[in-house]
Amino acid sequence: MTEFVNVDLGSRSYNISIGSDLPIGTALGESSAITALVVSDTNVAPLYMERCVSLLEARGLTVTSAVVPAGELSKSLECAADLYSKAVDAGLDRRSVIVALGGGVVGDLAGFVAATFLRGVQFLQVPTTLLAMVDSSVGGKTAVDLPQGKNLVGAFYQPVEVVADLDSLDTLPEREYISGLGEVVKYGVIWDKGLFEYFEQNIDALLKRDKAVLLKIVKRCCEIKAEVVAQDEREGGLRAILNFGHTYAHALETVSGYDKWLHGEAVSLGMVYAAKLSVALSGFSENDAERLVTLLDKLGLPIKLDDAPDWAELRKAMDADKKTLNAVPRFVLAKRLGEVIFGCEVPEDALKAIG
Ligand code: NAD
Ligand code: GLY
Repeated sequence: MTEFVNVDLGSRSYNISIGSDLPIGTALGESSAITALVVSDTNVAPLYMERCVSLLEARGLTVTSAVVPAGELSKSLECAADLYSKAVDAGLDRRSVIVALGGGVVGDLAGFVAATFLRGVQFLQVPTTLLAMVDSSVGGKTAVDLPQGKNLVGAFYQPVEVVADLDSLDTLPEREYISGLGEVVKYGVIWDKGLFEYFEQNIDALLKRDKAVLLKIVKRCCEIKAEVVAQDEREGGLRAILNFGHTYAHALETVSGYDKWLHGEAVSLGMVYAAKLSVALSGFSENDAERLVTLLDKLGLPIKLDDAPDWAELRKAMDADKKTLNAVPRFVLAKRLGEVIFGCEVPEDALKAIG
């Protein structure tokens, strides 16, 4: 069974398809005039590149592929420059499409190249991690990192289609899969208490990667993200709620050098921190906070740090967060499961007491 979610952005609207054995390139039609560059990484390409290329070739497209080293270091201006050269060599023109086949790293990098090559060519996302399916492939944030920080150069650039083939999750390493569940849980907290309860009731099925459960939750998370992005594409306000737990998570990732915690693991720790702040400041009940921590724990996500980083360093890293204004970090706080508020200034003593 295939499910569809529409991201409603007027002339830039697109569909997310979720299921098994899915076609790729439906939005492109069938045209021998379209040249495609499929970008993947060294882990994903051996598994899925051949199928992706043949599905696009079957539509008549002329297809070239490019493979970058797996890992965050590929989200760089140097890798982008290599891809621009490959795009020129492959003869891409304004009708062409760049396809991201991989996780959030490949999606962010290929999306940035698609947004900027020839001032923008078509972009198609084929996410292969849980995190990319429920978060990074949807909503049009693309970026590369600078030595000074993550995602410092980028563009809002929407894909023409997102194809989330759940079969690709079969090969995802366990730690990466569980990390993706961190972002999944976030959607229950920020928007949908019923979804949160569904997670509580389906922990074993989630951990076993049950396809029917994955179909339901990936669809619901994409619906929520689509709704938020449709209301606030460029993060003038509401879109900030997608960053629940992220102020702390980004700071933790920065001080621990990006190789200790996977993103969803850092988000899990960040949600525990945000839940404690919310109990102190925004009326989140102790019981709701406990339910969140218990769910994260049962899913195998980290809920506390054994060796806490230096507070001053962590606090400084919070100031580098893109949501910080006038040196005051802005937090998303929970009122109850399924409802959050954004743009909250938190008193300095509360930040420290809870950290
Ligand atoms: P990732 O892209 O590094 O993928 C994780 C690992 O899994 C990699 O080693 C990859 O090679 C491997 N992999 C991917 N799919 C696989 C599969 N099906 N089978 C086997 N191995 C597979 O990491 P990620 O967690 O997907 O994404 C993290 C990135 O996403 C970060 O750079 C983050 O900044 C970005 N991000 C962007 C947004 C956004 O809105 N654009 C949102 C969240 C995160
Ligand atoms: N991942 C947060 C956002 O897309 O806004």
